[in-house]
Amino acid sequence: MAEALFFSSTDKSQRYRELGSQLKSLMEGESNATANMANFCAALKEAFGWFWIGFYLVEVNELVLGPFQGPVACTRIQKSKGVCGAAWASEATIVVEDVEKFPGHIACSSLSKSEIVVPLIKNGKVIGVLDIDSTELATFDQTDQLELEKICQWFVSHL
Ligand code: SME
Repeated sequence: MAEALFFSSTDKSQRYRELGSQLKSLMEGESNATANMANFCAALKEAFGWFWIGFYLVEVNELVLGPFQGPVACTRIQKSKGVCGAAWASEATIVVEDVEKFPGHIACSSLSKSEIVVPLIKNGKVIGVLDIDSTELATFDQTDQLELEKICQWFVSHL
C-alpha cells in the first residue's frame, strides 16, 4: 500500500538518498511498469518540485510519451531530435543549462528553461528516457546527473 512520502533534508544529495529508499519500498511489491513509472514521477515531483518530470519510451523508431507529472507535452520524438532524441542516440545523459542554447531543443512549454535527460538502458539497449524540465536556468548539475543515473539504473533493473 502507498504511504505518504517524507523529505526532511535541504541538502540535495541527502534528499536523493531519502528519495531512493522510499522509491524502493514503494515499488518493492509492484511489478507493473506503468504504475511504477507513474509513482516514480510523482515521487520526484514531491521531492524536488520540478516543472515537468516524465518518461518517453522507445517504440520501434521513435520515443512515445509515457507517465509524467506536469503540463501536457509532445507525444512523439524522433531519434536524434531534441534533447530526448539526442540522449537516446548517444546513450548518455544530457544536461542542458539553457534550453535556448541547445540546437534542436523541442519546446513543449515556453516555461521550460533547463533540462536533464537520462537514458534508460536495459540489456545494453535504450528502452526510453527520463526527461526533467525546470523553469529556472542551470537547475541540474553533476550531482543530479549522478544521482538520477543511479536511481534510473536501479529502476530499470526493477522493471
Ligand atoms: N524538451 C524535450 C521535449 C520533451 S518536453 O521537454 C516534455 C526535448 O527537447 O527533447
